[in-house]
Amino acid sequence: MCTPAYTLSKMKGNIKFYKGENIPLELHKPRIVQKLHLVPIERRLQALQEGGFNTFKLNTPDVFLDMLTDSGTNAMSDNQQAAMMHADDAYAGSQSFARMAKAVEDVLKKKYLLPVHQGRAAENVLSCAYIKKKGALIPMNYHFTTALAHITQYGGRIAELLYDEAYNIASSHPFKGNMNIEKLEEVIKETGAGNIPFIRMEASTNLIGGQPFSIANMRAVREIANRYGIRLVLDASLLGENAYLVIQREPEFASASMGDVIATMTGLADIVYFSARKLSSSRGGGICTNNLEIYREMEALIPLFEGFLTYGGMSVREIEAIAVGLYETLDESIICQSPQFISYLVNSLVANGVSMVTPPGVLGAHVDAMKLCEHIPQTQYPAGALAAAFYLISGIRGMERGTMSNQRDENGNETYADMELLRLAVPRRVFTLSQIKYVIDRMTWLYENRKMIGGLKFVYEPPVLRFFMGELEPVSDWPQKLVAKFKEDFGDSL
Ligand code: F0G
Repeated sequence: MCTPAYTLSKMKGNIKFYKGENIPLELHKPRIVQKLHLVPIERRLQALQEGGFNTFKLNTPDVFLDMLTDSGTNAMSDNQQAAMMHADDAYAGSQSFARMAKAVEDVLKKKYLLPVHQGRAAENVLSCAYIKKKGALIPMNYHFTTALAHITQYGGRIAELLYDEAYNIASSHPFKGNMNIEKLEEVIKETGAGNIPFIRMEASTNLIGGQPFSIANMRAVREIANRYGIRLVLDASLLGENAYLVIQREPEFASASMGDVIATMTGLADIVYFSARKLSSSRGGGICTNNLEIYREMEALIPLFEGFLTYGGMSVREIEAIAVGLYETLDESIICQSPQFISYLVNSLVANGVSMVTPPGVLGAHVDAMKLCEHIPQTQYPAGALAAAFYLISGIRGMERGTMSNQRDENGNETYADMELLRLAVPRRVFTLSQIKYVIDRMTWLYENRKMIGGLKFVYEPPVLRFFMGELEPVSDWPQKLVAKFKEDFGDSL
């Protein structure tokens, strides 16, 4: 049996160095490793051409450091791996599910759990259950791609209610993911509470650079939700890291435990859903609540879309890993690792002149492509171009988070993103410090050669979530020129 990780919940993660050097210290040891491949730049150019200059379409043998996402790519603990060995295979009544439900109750403090195969499946179920009227409005701090796609698919619309500071790339505001309380109340008054099935708060708001909200802010949202009788839904996919940053940045919680902060946050929501590909470092998802009526409103949709109510489309092995991973979320010395590496990466790049989203958030480091590629118009996808150029010169795969990730409006016009970001995800406990130093080195080189990067245009554009499978081509021969400059500066080096 595995050691319950929650016995370690008092462990802190901030280790000081005697000489004052500010570097993250790995509080784990790698015991299974996977060989990586750094293929030559000529092959990287060919791989980009084969994949339509879209980093989603690269294959891992061509990728050195995979910083596409932190979703399903985290290192599992020995205890998670061990738990997977005693999974209980059963269509109905699996004890693996009972263990996951117990972990949800212990950690997220919700009694009723609906299992789903991943986070977006929870968004589908929620949207299907609650968006009954065309034009129903979901106010949120900010959208996530799949949340927006599901809401609009069911005829709903969204209102994004961040404070202006959230859009300020270089900021020191500790909680850029806060919901704008004044605007929330205005929107409810304008729309009418009856047309608002729920308010959605996303922990560590992904698309603005993994930026957290404060508990003070969530309390204020709860108060408004109570006043108008509207449900509050928490997207808890990045909850562990949001809780860690609350401890770091919100004075009231400076000496609180992860467990207390997490319970406070989930306690403010009527419904909590999560992608277990992030929360719990495994693969799967869930929707949970303490309200039986709410549970019943969604119950029938699980067998319809996902699978029976005791597996929800997940493998029982993953369900076991989720249970252990949820308990490990209570251990600050585990959760702090990714945000600390991100902070080191962001601060080092800022010191080298690269414009980055600050303060450092969670999930990954976010490069400001609007600034770095200011010579590329938004019509030519500066963040997508930067993602392609960075892969070309480093073998590192990041993800475009800008206009390419937006969907066109109902008239087919582009909707330009508020921010053009290249996201370099830092999956939990996967990379070493020397690998992070390689990222800094190559991004610094690209920054100094940034004017050589050119734009992209679509040659194949799918109608929904186009960034996943879309194909593009460069507007000129800039990739070939960049290869030549790389060879001039690095010679034979890969
Ligand atoms: N909510 C948030 C905040 C997310 O970041 C994601 C996924 C989802 C929901 C959907 O979860 O992938 O399990 O279906 N984010 C991934 C990413 C895809 O790369 O940021 P999923």
